[in-house]
Amino acid sequence: MNKITQLFNIKYPIIQGGMIWNSGYKLASAVSNAGGLGLIGAGSMYPEVLREHIQKCKKATNKPFGVNIPMLYPNIEEIMNIVIEEGVKIVFTSAGNPKTWTTFLKEKGITVVHVVSSSVFALKAQEAGVDAIVAEGFEAGGHNGRDETTTLTLIPMVREKIKIPVIAAGGIATGRGMLAAMVLGADGVQVGSRFAASIESSAHNNFKETIVKVKEGDTQLTLKELAPVRLIKNKFYNDVQELYEKSPSKEDLTLLLGRARAKKGMFEGDLEEGELEIGQIAGLIHEILPVAQIVQEMMDEFGIACQEKVKFEF
Ligand SMILES: Cc1cc2nc3c(=O)[nH]c(=O)nc-3n(C[C@H](O)[C@H](O)[C@H](O)COP(=O)(O)O)c2cc1C
Repeated sequence: MNKITQLFNIKYPIIQGGMIWNSGYKLASAVSNAGGLGLIGAGSMYPEVLREHIQKCKKATNKPFGVNIPMLYPNIEEIMNIVIEEGVKIVFTSAGNPKTWTTFLKEKGITVVHVVSSSVFALKAQEAGVDAIVAEGFEAGGHNGRDETTTLTLIPMVREKIKIPVIAAGGIATGRGMLAAMVLGADGVQVGSRFAASIESSAHNNFKETIVKVKEGDTQLTLKELAPVRLIKNKFYNDVQELYEKSPSKEDLTLLLGRARAKKGMFEGDLEEGELEIGQIAGLIHEILPVAQIVQEMMDEFGIACQEKVKFEF
């Protein structure tokens, strides 16, 4: 038992990060059933679709699960009300000000966690009254902070300032990565990319097959002027780079991005025109595996790595 397993009443301190177009109820319930904490990613769901996923998740697991809500969501009030109506007990908020919704959710008895990319924002989240924070480094897949602070540096800096539990995210896909994050001061880990390439992820198979082929250096954080996002270097990414050579305005970039790029890439499997969001650690992911195996292998490796550590001699 540690602070994170106690907070969520789970077996292992492994949280599956909410991921647009990847983390529906199948992934979330599989992670919860395997002993971690599964999160339904509300960011790519219309309100009624989210409701359906929550209801299906309740049937697919009797273990705790949560919902990840990026706060830039246009139907945010409706989403929050659905979460309350459906009796969701755990909410992870991201991409916004933690002050806006934390009190409202806490008053309803919900455990609230906020995702940050710096110790300044971690402090703000703590002040807003959240129960824990996710500190997400530059390596991570999906949208990211502008400062490029890596997980290795972010975790100890956040740990130094924060009293509440810290969950490390970004670049963690193995038991050794998990142990490293915990040695740096994290109480648990949030894993995204590794679970995107799982059988239960709702992503298109083309995307999953691409993740397992990604090598070191194949992803890059881009579109910082809009919302920084780490992408696989495909045709769409190259189109963005070409536009950068012409010193584009924010409007030019918005126009090129258009709408539904992430859906096109990750959900519909358009590997050329779509946005393919994945973390640097994809270079270490070589197989699409079932969630239960991913979690078990992580915990086995974590156990071995813990024992090896005591053998260090200088
Ligand atoms: C495909 C994809 C989609 C993501 N979507 C979201 C999201 O909707 N909300 C969010 O808070 N984080 C999102 N993330 C970030 C993850 O929740 C997690 O923090 C991150 O993936 C951890 O880093 P890793 O990819 O190195 O494991 C996404 C990540 C990926 C790979």
